[in-house]
Amino acid sequence: MERTSNRLILCGTGPVRPLTRLTVDATLNVAPDLIKRYQNGHYWLERRLDDLAHNRAYAMGIATGSHLIALALLTPKGAHAVKLSTFSVAPRFRSAGIGRTLLQALRCKWLADDIDRVHVTVDQDDFSTTQFFLNSNFAQTKDVLVNYGEHRWDKVLSWTPAADSRAPAFFR
Ligand SMILES: CC(C)(COP(=O)(O)OP(=O)(O)OC[C@H]1O[C@@H](n2cnc3c(N)ncnc32)[C@H](O)[C@@H]1OP(=O)(O)O)[C@@H](O)C(=O)NCCC(=O)NCCS
Repeated sequence: MERTSNRLILCGTGPVRPLTRLTVDATLNVAPDLIKRYQNGHYWLERRLDDLAHNRAYAMGIATGSHLIALALLTPKGAHAVKLSTFSVAPRFRSAGIGRTLLQALRCKWLADDIDRVHVTVDQDDFSTTQFFLNSNFAQTKDVLVNYGEHRWDKVLSWTPAADSRAPAFFR
């Protein structure tokens, strides 16, 4: 259980586990569009997996049997900030509460780790992923777009502990 300002939230890890190593194949099974999102996408992914193998990044996920079905890859930015560089649920497991379960476990970890800010960038045309994060107490940074290549602009969404503490318990 974690305390943030005037409220308590239940924090169990449930099915969510830390992942210490990841293969390119396992990652692409969960996030098939990932490498299309970046110029030199394969190279980008290999660097992220190398970061993970050398503790410059961390990952949490949900598996069924030996198959990974949800994945979050995160890069610390200093002691109190984190970039959520990938967050994805395998396509055939979407809309079943799995993304919500993974994000809730991450929020518990961020509170326990005294993280002040988490940001994620989402393709400006990807309304469903944007809605998912907005429904999970992330807020869009207005008028900021990050360029990831020709015709590819991302919105920036951020979470802070204060955003969680403002939300009524039944909305979390
Ligand atoms: C966005 C994503 C993570 C949501 O995961 P999920 O397991 O399908 O979501 P959940 O079933 O846990 O839904 C949680 C909430 O998110 C919202 N949501 C999920 N999918 C949505 C959609 N397609 N449209 C609108 N809202 C949606 C809903 O508010 C839902 O709440 P509800 O239970 O009240 O309906 C998943 O669809 C995904 O992996 N998309 C691709 C993400 C991507 O491109 N990642 C790379 C960039 S980081």
